[in-house]
Amino acid sequence: MTITPAAAPALPDDQIVELMVEVPPGQVIKYDLAALASAFQITDPGRIAVETDGSRHALVTIYPSNPLAVMPPPSDEDMLMDKYGRIVVGRYHNGRPARRRLFDPRTGSAVRALTFGTTGAGKSRTVQYILACEKRNGIVSWYGDLKGGQSAPEARGQVDWLATSQEEVILMLRAAVAVAQERQARYAALGRNAFVIGNPDPLVSVRIDEANRLLEKGAPYREEGTYLVKELGRTGRSVGVGEELDAQASHLEELGGSDTLRAMLKEGEVTLLRWSSSMMRQLVADGLLPAGTQLVPIPKSLKPRVLRSQFAEGADDDDDVCDTQGSAYLLSGPHPTSMMRHFRIGSILPMPGLDPEILALYGPGDPERLEATSVDGAGEAYAARGTDAMTALCEAVRDEQQKQAAKTQATKGGRSAQLVADRILVVLADSEDAMTPDEITLLVNADGGDTVKVGSVRNKLGMLADSGDVVRAGRGLYEITR
Ligand SMILES: Nc1ncnc2c1ncn2[C@@H]1O[C@H](COP(=O)(O)OP(=O)(O)OP(=O)(O)O)[C@@H](O)[C@H]1O
Ligand SMILES: [Mg+2]
Repeated sequence: MTITPAAAPALPDDQIVELMVEVPPGQVIKYDLAALASAFQITDPGRIAVETDGSRHALVTIYPSNPLAVMPPPSDEDMLMDKYGRIVVGRYHNGRPARRRLFDPRTGSAVRALTFGTTGAGKSRTVQYILACEKRNGIVSWYGDLKGGQSAPEARGQVDWLATSQEEVILMLRAAVAVAQERQARYAALGRNAFVIGNPDPLVSVRIDEANRLLEKGAPYREEGTYLVKELGRTGRSVGVGEELDAQASHLEELGGSDTLRAMLKEGEVTLLRWSSSMMRQLVADGLLPAGTQLVPIPKSLKPRVLRSQFAEGADDDDDVCDTQGSAYLLSGPHPTSMMRHFRIGSILPMPGLDPEILALYGPGDPERLEATSVDGAGEAYAARGTDAMTALCEAVRDEQQKQAAKTQATKGGRSAQLVADRILVVLADSEDAMTPDEITLLVNADGGDTVKVGSVRNKLGMLADSGDVVRAGRGLYEITR
């Protein structure tokens, strides 16, 4: 779509302009937001919303001012699930309610959800809102925060289980898988293949904030964490145990690899807060977003960039405020390319302590608890949550992990040492003449295996000479024992 300045109509003041545009059959609509804004002489990109159908059509809406600049807090009705299991999480740019599913009553399925966003995009506020909604709807919330409980401090005491360390999150995930398995056996005996809320059990929702810290490469519990997330995704759906990951990943690899998440992304509730362009490319490359999909980027700030002459006065008052927090795309909703913004959750400015407005969202009373029948299945970690006994259980997980890591390291180290020694022996056995460590290193590195340094070859040669496999044939020369 190309709109030239000459072709762009003058915009009427204080009115919303809506343009339905299309490209000829055989083409897919693409647009350049900056060019579009320039054509209409608009400096605030927040005034333009573009939605595409991934094919020939686009709906361009131009507002007199950014319609998402100020968001109201949610109302009590917004927080209650409708008959489709949805709550209202905010508004689309056109003022329509933006909904997200907490449960699918039509299929009896618990929800799997993913929320992505770069740092400060509003992930944790979204999490708090959903946790508060879960409490109000009688859903059992298990919440793991890998920022040590700092992400959503008001959640303490408002959820059934708050886990604040890697180890506790692992224990929580193990317990969740155990509950799902226990329910599976119990429901199978009842002849049930779908979940009905409250009959007899409550819906359970397991959520991990900062999930990238658990699942990224090099994280201590990556392997088990990935396995448990996958397993819970598989068994939990039909027995009322949902799961959500909130992460600032720029790549699916950072979340245990794309396989783990592909199914969740395809079927789950996906919220994309301010994202990185590489994440976007990958969602498209992985087929998780249709190829033609283009989303208007969510910038950190909507303040128009103003060019200022070096001779202008008072030009140094720029700040770096982020004023788009909570803006997002609900990719699994009915309007995936329509920008929305989450309700204002609590104070925008930092609070010295707990935020009373957020506490009020949770409402009075205790949170819903896991059904008594599943408590045994959930195991000792569930019983120990929120008590001192949790420390010992977490230490046991850490010890177990460290032992495992040491074992892996030892086998790996042993194997590579073995390998280098073996490779040296092969090289020496092939040679008629004695060789220097430099020559041996060159030949070892030519065998297609991992590159080794001359220092480590020298080391191994010393060991091999001591064990009698190799003999020193003069100064700095080695040959195989024949
Ligand atoms: N819906 C919202 N309503 C009000 N303020 C919000 C909202 N979302 C975000 N904010 C503001 O943005 C700040 C950052 O939000 P939040 O902590 O949720 O981001 P995050 O994505 O979890 O960041 P991090 O990656 O650092 O954990 C909040 O402290 C708050 O000031
Ligand atoms: Mg956060």
